[in-house]
Amino acid sequence: KAMAIVNELEDKCGTPITRLRHVAEAMTVEMHAGLASEGGSKLKMLVSYVDNLPTGDEEGLFYALDLGGTNFRVLRVHLGGQGKGVGKQEFQEVSIPPHLMTGTSDALFDYIAETLGKFVATEEEGYPFPGRDRELGFTFSFPVNQTSIASGTLIRWTKGFSIEDAIGEDVVGELTKALRRNGLDMQVTALVNDTVGTLASGRYYNPDVICAVILGTGTNAAYVERANAIPKWHGPPPSSGEMVINMEWGNFWSSHLPLTEYDLALDTESLNPGEQIFEKIISGMYLGEILRRVLLRMAEDAAFFGDTVPPKLKIPFILRTPDMSAMHHDESRDLEVVGKKLQAILEISNTSLEARKVIIKLCDIVATRGARLSSAGILGILKKLERDNITASGGQKSVIALDGGLFEHYMKFSASMESTLKELLGEEIANSIVIERSNDGSGIGAALLAASHSTYLQAPE
Ligand code: BG6
Ligand code: GLC
Repeated sequence: KAMAIVNELEDKCGTPITRLRHVAEAMTVEMHAGLASEGGSKLKMLVSYVDNLPTGDEEGLFYALDLGGTNFRVLRVHLGGQGKGVGKQEFQEVSIPPHLMTGTSDALFDYIAETLGKFVATEEEGYPFPGRDRELGFTFSFPVNQTSIASGTLIRWTKGFSIEDAIGEDVVGELTKALRRNGLDMQVTALVNDTVGTLASGRYYNPDVICAVILGTGTNAAYVERANAIPKWHGPPPSSGEMVINMEWGNFWSSHLPLTEYDLALDTESLNPGEQIFEKIISGMYLGEILRRVLLRMAEDAAFFGDTVPPKLKIPFILRTPDMSAMHHDESRDLEVVGKKLQAILEISNTSLEARKVIIKLCDIVATRGARLSSAGILGILKKLERDNITASGGQKSVIALDGGLFEHYMKFSASMESTLKELLGEEIANSIVIERSNDGSGIGAALLAASHSTYLQAPE
């Protein structure tokens, strides 16, 4: 009976190449629809107001806040100007206390402002521009309707956040009020999604970067679009002719997605039912939870862990993706890591080697589906940009900046993603498509964009 459940899962999670091609095509179609009109697709294709990516001329001392990944970061970055690159970078990382993720807007932003205040106070040499406010780039990794480069209203929360009274509010306004409440004279000059920040810092280091993908707690992508390919944009045409689009691909949906009963139940019981379906089968917040749901079903219907169902297995989100990854990478003969994790997290002891092997197989099914679907998503973007074949791209290099804990730490996931992308592209073009790891790039990207949108730019000292 247990094996029947495993086999059924494997079948339902199947991602043969033809299916991935359908997913990629659907992604391209939805991209067009989302660019055509507001609400034209589940893919929001948000206009970022970033129409000039960093050039290398950015100069000065800038701060950045990075909210929305596993950790909240504050950064201080010295930009050298004129190709001198990024100088000293300092940062501090804290986790957001869970109760603040579902509390009130004021409580969350006060916490952010307090943390920033303490960090600013550690400035050793003092702020080098007396009489000026310190300037700040704000990476806010949730869907936002931008109203300018430094303002935008929150459309909805995703991942583990749910703070009702912030929805529809200008997040820069909320942050600025909290900064004032905490006695800080700082100005936000750029508000960016983490994908947009990662794209900006990627481009700063490598002019061939055309797109950024986050595979972490959540998943998303941003890329550089031609302004005249955005029919829904009615603002002034950008001088560069380009505009960065935050796709919010976590909310992508297509009938070609391989979904299982576990995914449907996870979605129904989530903080955001019906939303972020692509994210819920790919990203770090959910992979371990999908595995838990399969194990629970095996315990209940096939006595996989003996006569009783281990009580801990019933606790949502108890099995985290880093633990799943540790089990998946267990190469010891007795699969000791699997045994230890089951004991430590689920209080399940004395599992047989056979049972441990089955668990690794489950990890593989769930992680491989997510990894292969993320490659299909990337292929969708490359198709939209006509970079997926050698004739149209003229052999030009396309670099994809990638960040996020899932990609960085879950090696079997990243390996599967990269090999699937090669498989999908075919040999001829595969060498001109490069995936570049970008570590913590989005904070620096936000600082770079804060610098290029500095309010003091017109009146340098
Ligand atoms: C970080 C970026 O490196 O990756 C963040 O600076 C981003 O902006 C994060 O949100 C995503 O990864 P995770 O795994 O922390 O969600
Ligand atoms: C979620 C957010 C998105 C973010 C992504 C990665 O999908 O909605 O804005 O980019 O997570 O952090």
